[in-house]
Amino acid sequence: MPQTLSVIKADVGGYVGHSAMHPEVLGVGQEALVRAVQSGLLIDGHAASCGDDLFLIMSHERGENDEPIHKLAWDTFVAGTDVAKRLRLYGAGQDLLVDAFSGNIRGAGPGSAELELEERPSEPVVVYLGDKTSAGSFNLPLYKMFADPFNTAGLVIAEALHAGFAFEVHDVKEHRKIVLNTPEEAYDLLVFIGSPARYAIKRVVARATGEVAAVSSTDKLSLIAGRYVGKDDPAAIVRCQGVFPAVGEVLEPFTTAWTVEGFMRGSHYGPWMPTAQAQATPSRFDGPPRVVALGFQLAEGKLVGPRDMFDDPGFDNARAEANRVADYLRKHGPFEPHRLPLDEMEYTTMPAVAAKLGDRWAEI
Ligand code: F6R
Ligand code: MG
Ligand code: MG
Repeated sequence: MPQTLSVIKADVGGYVGHSAMHPEVLGVGQEALVRAVQSGLLIDGHAASCGDDLFLIMSHERGENDEPIHKLAWDTFVAGTDVAKRLRLYGAGQDLLVDAFSGNIRGAGPGSAELELEERPSEPVVVYLGDKTSAGSFNLPLYKMFADPFNTAGLVIAEALHAGFAFEVHDVKEHRKIVLNTPEEAYDLLVFIGSPARYAIKRVVARATGEVAAVSSTDKLSLIAGRYVGKDDPAAIVRCQGVFPAVGEVLEPFTTAWTVEGFMRGSHYGPWMPTAQAQATPSRFDGPPRVVALGFQLAEGKLVGPRDMFDDPGFDNARAEANRVADYLRKHGPFEPHRLPLDEMEYTTMPAVAAKLGDRWAEI
């Protein structure tokens, strides 16, 4: 029986402002998952936070897009929202865009990444949690993990990886997808994934075995809601070792603090800082954007872990780099390229301001 790993996440209220999660909200998440294990719905579950987002990491045998699993996540977010409302947390229920659950979490606000696997004798996985950034931010790190031999030595010297990987890319605006194979179609792939606001890597498959190596959430809140409702802080799941890159190869892309969309008001470029879970509390200018890596060994679906993978001095330089880049970009204030380009601002708070001044413009 194949197992499924589902990561479903939502911002149901921040503490303080949008900076972190109140322990009681995280507690609601963890308790709900424990009950779901007791009832037999889940094999195992772990609730985690990154900034103001609640991530439910769930292991089960029900496949992707399973209604009871999605309902469990939805009900848990609703229960977290109730706590957030009682504590007057900020933006309670922010990501729950519909009044009632109707079978699937997709299109309802929360983000999801789900991966089916036949568990190997030893199955290391890394779950990435992002905050103050956007769907598509994993494009660059996923490319480096699975297609860049300067990052992943195994692509060159390990027979199992030599066949390369297939990338499923989603066009989040036109709702279409394409699969491109690396290494031979790497240049074609980069044409698209180099624009992460429009094209996001949904899935990576090992060509040697056809197994899914990685998935990421590609849900775009603003495109669902038709207006700015906060950023779609993304999640990703990556399998490691054997036909997949080693754990160290999967973490290596985050030794650089890549520039991503998000930061203050979801309207700025900023450096993506890899941190331990305890430091995933974006405060300065509501940032810099954060990424946490939780490592697990699966044992018949049990989540042995997590290990807090960025809680390591090996990432100190990336954190220092992120602070330097943030200092530099912040000096630009309201100017590009710190502020997002105009077409991206369409999905932020700007249209309302522009509309107000609409009839003040005169022909030149
Ligand atoms: C970014 C984010 C924050 C808020 C900002 C304003 O993803 O969540 O930067 O956009 O704090 O928040 P509101 O509009 O809720 O006052
Ligand atoms: Mg928030
Ligand atoms: Mg958030």
